[in-house]
Amino acid sequence: MTPKYDSITIDYIRNERVAVGQLLIIITFICLIILIISILKFGVPCAIYVPTPIKIARRALSLAGLKPHEILYDLGCGDGRVLILATIEYGAFAVGVECNPLLAWIARRNVRRANVEEFVKVITGNLFNINLHKADVVFLYLSQYANERLKDKMAKELKHGARVVTYIFPIVGWKPLVKDEKQNIYVYEIPYSLSDEKGNINPK
Ligand SMILES: C[S@@+](CC[C@H](N)C(=O)[O-])C[C@H]1O[C@@H](n2cnc3c(N)ncnc32)[C@H](O)[C@@H]1O
Repeated sequence: MTPKYDSITIDYIRNERVAVGQLLIIITFICLIILIISILKFGVPCAIYVPTPIKIARRALSLAGLKPHEILYDLGCGDGRVLILATIEYGAFAVGVECNPLLAWIARRNVRRANVEEFVKVITGNLFNINLHKADVVFLYLSQYANERLKDKMAKELKHGARVVTYIFPIVGWKPLVKDEKQNIYVYEIPYSLSDEKGNINPK
């Protein structure tokens, strides 16, 4: 039987594998550097990156009653998908906050590609340092821990009538205005008579 590959082909395949391996090492190294820089600058992320499926994001924004010209904040905006959806399908303005510089860069690029730069702002930073007083709707897909830490801040900074819509993680102690238990979406409204002393809104 004649061999399938001659030695030149084998060398070529070997060199190509080495090149791919080196490229992967370089990419991992760059990602690691970005991660270290962002942790030093903005602290440890309170949630890992998992994008919300578009169908779920659409349902969340519609349950939150997002209206044209309202301002939506996505705290931990990932690749910017919720921001883009809010502007294109709901005619809203959107602000995204993202602590991972690579994701913030991707979000800005996606916003540019979707042609909605005029309506969207992406901030590279820590969501706990962003004042929320301008928000009409806040979208959260973070973690139970992050929601717990945000409770007081949101109760203090959000205006009356603002809505908070969370995916997967409810806000413990707040009574949802609307919920879709099948899709794990919870909507809360900041009421006129605010909270108990622990920052619980409409305590159960
Ligand atoms: C589960 S992902 C959700 C991404 C996006 N909101 C979506 O629904 O597709 C959570 C995001 O929050 C970001 N994040 C975590 N902690 C953060 C912090 N302290 N400040 C800003 N962003 C943060 C992560 O980098 C990640 O992109």
